[in-house]
Amino acid sequence: MEAYCSIAKSFSSFHVLGLLLLLFANAAAAAKTHYHDFVVQATPVKRLCKTHNAITVNGQFPGPTLEVNNGDTLVVNVVNRARYNVTIHWHGIRQMRTGWADGPEFVTQCPIRPGGSYTYRFTIEGQEGTLWWHAHSSWLRATVYGALIIRPREGSSYPFTKPKRQTPILLGEWWDANPVDVVREAMRTGAAPNISDAYTINGQPGDLYNCSSKDTVIVPVDSGETNLLRVINSALNQELFFTVAKHKLTVVAADASYMKPFTTSVIMLGPGQTTDVLITADQSPARYYIAARAYASAQGAPFDNTTTTAILEYKSAPCPAKGPSLPPVQPSLPAYNDTATASAFTTSLRSPSKAEVPIDIDENLFITVGLGLNPCPPKSRSRNCQGPNGTRFTASMNNVSFVLPSNYSLLQSHQQGIPGVFTTDFPAAPPVKFDYTGNVSRSLWTPVRGTRLYKLKYGSKVQIVLQGTSIFTAENHPIHLHGYDFYIIAEGFGNFDPKKDTSKFNLIDPPMRNTASVPVRGWAVIRFVADNPGVWLMHCHLDVHITWGLAMAFLVENGFGELQSISPPPADLPVC
Ligand code: C2O
Repeated sequence: MEAYCSIAKSFSSFHVLGLLLLLFANAAAAAKTHYHDFVVQATPVKRLCKTHNAITVNGQFPGPTLEVNNGDTLVVNVVNRARYNVTIHWHGIRQMRTGWADGPEFVTQCPIRPGGSYTYRFTIEGQEGTLWWHAHSSWLRATVYGALIIRPREGSSYPFTKPKRQTPILLGEWWDANPVDVVREAMRTGAAPNISDAYTINGQPGDLYNCSSKDTVIVPVDSGETNLLRVINSALNQELFFTVAKHKLTVVAADASYMKPFTTSVIMLGPGQTTDVLITADQSPARYYIAARAYASAQGAPFDNTTTTAILEYKSAPCPAKGPSLPPVQPSLPAYNDTATASAFTTSLRSPSKAEVPIDIDENLFITVGLGLNPCPPKSRSRNCQGPNGTRFTASMNNVSFVLPSNYSLLQSHQQGIPGVFTTDFPAAPPVKFDYTGNVSRSLWTPVRGTRLYKLKYGSKVQIVLQGTSIFTAENHPIHLHGYDFYIIAEGFGNFDPKKDTSKFNLIDPPMRNTASVPVRGWAVIRFVADNPGVWLMHCHLDVHITWGLAMAFLVENGFGELQSISPPPADLPVC
């Protein structure tokens, strides 16, 4: 029975490209420059039975996949034809000395206004694996995102069996509404925003949702072959478990850093994180569900409890259209609140070999991350105070709720010496010590607002203890640092205790990532060397938490000479 049922709805043309690359591999190993045009525009997109004018790039949802080799340069001209301000962030790209191309609005640039444009130019240096790009303005990244795939340098190979095919798997989150309206409403009321109506795989919710099954994404496979899935959590506000029914996943990379391979049946990704897994088609020819649903760590908080699916389809499987076909094999996913499975996964990640972990630490920071509640300002109306008990939700790091400037970007004001835009007094430790993960006194629930940066000397070796709090509610926070990869040398539950927890530090082979999952009611410790001058945002990658101020920024000073200094701003850098 030879039946290939599905049309290439997925990204199956990758292996053809792979062959072409092989043919040309001997020709030249020189780095290339890739030029792209991104037109940000409103596009009708029909999901869950209804059409919305979604903001997209080039009319595609998800947006175009960018594929480069390590060492290549990307030049992306972004034209804004939408009615919102927009910027694009290249999540996880180091942007060595090219902070102007990083993208977070009011941090490294002012937004691209409707009708405006900006060209992002940067080189990929020493990174291989899967990253992604997304809008970094309001909640536009709900629909403005895509994969950024970095293959090994031309002529070099993967540190694992070369996969037959490669498929990006972008996990997304869909609102049956305009996501910008959803966040604006939450900002007005002070309440938590509406939860999403679906999760998606490569833009499609899948068989378990209304009006969706005919568009379910099909990932084709031949019996016996080993393929690479590049899984990206591009959801706005939800950590996700991901699995493929009956198949083992061999983890080989995360956040564009290779990992010591290990095998698991389920992976967990916080928003922002990526995981590359090898999957061998070693089951009987059939159709198997690829599935993702929430890892919801906050107790009692509402969340979208739906499940998105795609189908792994063996080419020799009986065709659904002709003859008897069985429904796809059901996946088994952990319970929504299965923190044990989530941390079993994150603590299994290891660098493939001995890592160069910074040892003599120059800057030792302790940063609390969590929510808060603001009392209602005097004379405000109750409709603007619909958070718990008539308050408004907020969030902070070390009790500072981060406020973005509006007249200059932080990087521009730093570079041009424009005063009054920010201060450099972000505290290296919380202003008061308390039982962070215990029953926190109500008097500690209200942070202060500020645009406070923390200054780092070029080359300084930094350690940060990221300590979750249980203010209002404890939950897992995916903390992302722009412009850097860092080692996660330990994680645990409860309050970090330097007396006993330093003995758990892995200084041999810790994983290197750009986004750390700080365990619910727990902590994580990261280390990096401040070798990239500029202004770099560090924030929770749950968009609702950035909205509430769960962020801060580092100002990394220039070192000596041109090679240790940020390059001059591009001429077309948008101004405010
Ligand atoms: Cu992927 Cu500041 O973001």
